[in-house]
This record gives sequence, structure tokens and C-alpha cells, in this order.
Amino acid sequence: MKNLKNGVAVITGGGSGLGKALAHAAVSRGMKVVLADVQAKALEQTLEELRALGAEAIGEVLDVTDATAVEALAERAETHFGPANLVFNNAGVASAGLIWESTEKDWDWLLGVNVKGVANGIRAFTPRMLAAASADADYQGCIINTASLAGVLTGPAMGVYSVSKHAVLALSECLFHDLALLTRQVQAAVLCPSYVATNIGQCYRVRPSQWANSEGPTRSQMATAAISQNNLDSGSLTADQVAETTFKAVEQGKFYIFPTDEVHGLLKHRFDRILESANPDLPYEQTPFLQDRRKRLIEALAD
Ligand SMILES: NC(=O)c1ccc[n+]([C@@H]2O[C@H](COP(=O)([O-])OP(=O)(O)OC[C@H]3O[C@@H](n4cnc5c(N)ncnc54)[C@H](O)[C@@H]3O)[C@@H](O)[C@H]2O)c1
Repeated sequence: MKNLKNGVAVITGGGSGLGKALAHAAVSRGMKVVLADVQAKALEQTLEELRALGAEAIGEVLDVTDATAVEALAERAETHFGPANLVFNNAGVASAGLIWESTEKDWDWLLGVNVKGVANGIRAFTPRMLAAASADADYQGCIINTASLAGVLTGPAMGVYSVSKHAVLALSECLFHDLALLTRQVQAAVLCPSYVATNIGQCYRVRPSQWANSEGPTRSQMATAAISQNNLDSGSLTADQVAETTFKAVEQGKFYIFPTDEVHGLLKHRFDRILESANPDLPYEQTPFLQDRRKRLIEALAD
């Protein structure tokens, strides 16, 4: 996508972290933005920041698991600004701990927001973007889904999150294949960040009561949450850097967006082991933070 100026970007989870950084990157390119978030206050603050920069920005408080609300978002965005050029299905939440300790509500919440939320965005926006492409040979669009490095790697004590992000990767690749049957004017991409300091460690703040656990967290869940917070705080890239890299990749028409190439060795290691029929493993010796994470988890569980 060459020229985003005056285009329209829709961003879910736009009130915080990566979504907010993506909104700033969109505005810096002269785009109009439509933000959606379940947190009204964070959304309003972000919109105020963007408008203070002179941006045209509107917002909608919604839960991405609500397909009707996401459909209404697509309708409102198009009525207000015209067809979306970039759609970031970015809203997401995390959980931690040993996989057999994850409750049914953990699964429902994580898969609801991280997977169904993305599917709702794809269903609401893709037909509108295809219609825009048919009506205007100069129209260009891209749907960018936020997965994670955990969408291509697995590791200890992050099972439900990793499953949800593997699903986002598969969903995004399927979207890419399906779009390619019809047009080159609407593209797909998948963003796979590793640890970035955002507010995702406090995502329990947006957990709805219907998916609240009746019992407190287990030892593995508390230990993993603390270790993950540490990993997030010491992430090598800021949300703004990830957003900037993401926009550059979209402008270059790239599908896989890994904000840092530090992870290439980890990816190669996983697929080499699959090809060698070797058992799952991470290259702990060459990856100090993963080695430390594993060591601290073993210590916490042995206490
Ligand atoms: N921070 C990281 O290290 C990291 C790494 C890889 C992937 N990601 C992914 O990046 C995306 C953004 O997360 P972040 O790190 O910026 O976290 P964040 O908590 O700072 O921002 C996420 C935003 O999504 C919103 N949200 C959560 N549930 C929602 C729902 N049901 N409906 C609408 N909005 C909802 C939150 O209110 C919040 O504003 C997520 O998909 C996350 O899984 C983050």
C-alpha cells in the first residue's frame, strides 16, 4: 500500500498499548481513525490525544466478542468516513499458568476475545472492503490481525494464550489465501510481536463477570503472571516502535510482521525440530530470557 494519506484506519483495542500506538502511527500518516475498545475512559483519552494533533478520530465502546456491535462499528465507520483501508483486529487479552489449571471460563474468555473477536472483525469489514475495491480501481485495503510470537512458538505455562494466537495466525493465513482468489486490492497481514511494555499484564481489568473465575489464581498462574510482567517490562521494543514497523511492513505489502528479527532463530529452531521429528524444545541456551523464565517457573512450582 503506497499512499495512506486521507485513508481510514479502524483499530480495535485502540485505547491502550499497541492499539493506541497504531492509532498514532496512522494519524502521523494523515489517516482518519476509528477506534474501538471495551474501556470507555481509555478510549476517550486516546481520542482526545489524537484530536489534539488535528486528527479526525471517532470511537466506539464495544466488546469485540459481540458480533452485532462489531457489525455496527463497520457500518458507522463507513457512514462517517467511507470504506476502511486498514483494519487492525488488535484487541486481545492474556492468561497464564499450567494448561490443565486453566478453567473453562479462561478458555471461553481468551478464545472469545482473541479468536472470535478477530473473526467478527473479518466478517464485518471484508465484504465492505471488497465492495470498495470493486467500485474503485484505485482503492487499496489491508486487514492486519494481531497474533503474537506465541502464535508461532509454544512454551511453558502460556497454553491458552498460545492456542488462541496460533488460531489468529491460521485465521490470517486463511484470509490471505481467500482474498487472493478474488483480488489483489484487499490484502491481509499478521502482526507477531514478542514482549512489549503495554497494559496487557493488567487485562483482568477488562474481564467481564460472566467469564470471571469463582476461585483465585493457582500458584502457577500467579508465578507466570509475575514472570510475564517482568518480561513485558523488559521488552526490547516500545509499542511505538512496533507500530512504526507494522506500518512500514503494511506499506511494503508484507504478510508476516515480526517487529524484531531477534526471533528468527527461534522460529527456525521450531520448524527444524518438526522436520527432524524431534520433540518440542526451545533453544534455551541461546535465549537467556527464556532460560530464566523456565528456571523461575520450575523454582516457583517446587517451593
Ligand atoms: N504486549 C505484548 O507483549 C504483546 C505481545 C504479543 C501480542 N500482543 C497482542 O497485542 C494486542 C494488544 O495488546 P496490548 O499488549 O497492547 O495490551 P493492552 O492491554 O495495553 O491493550 C489491549 C486493549 O484491548 C482492549 N480490549 C480487551 N478486551 C477487549 C474486548 N473484549 N473488546 C474490545 N476491546 C478489548 C483493552 O481494553 C485494551 O485497551 C493483543 O492482541 C495482544 O495479545 C501483545
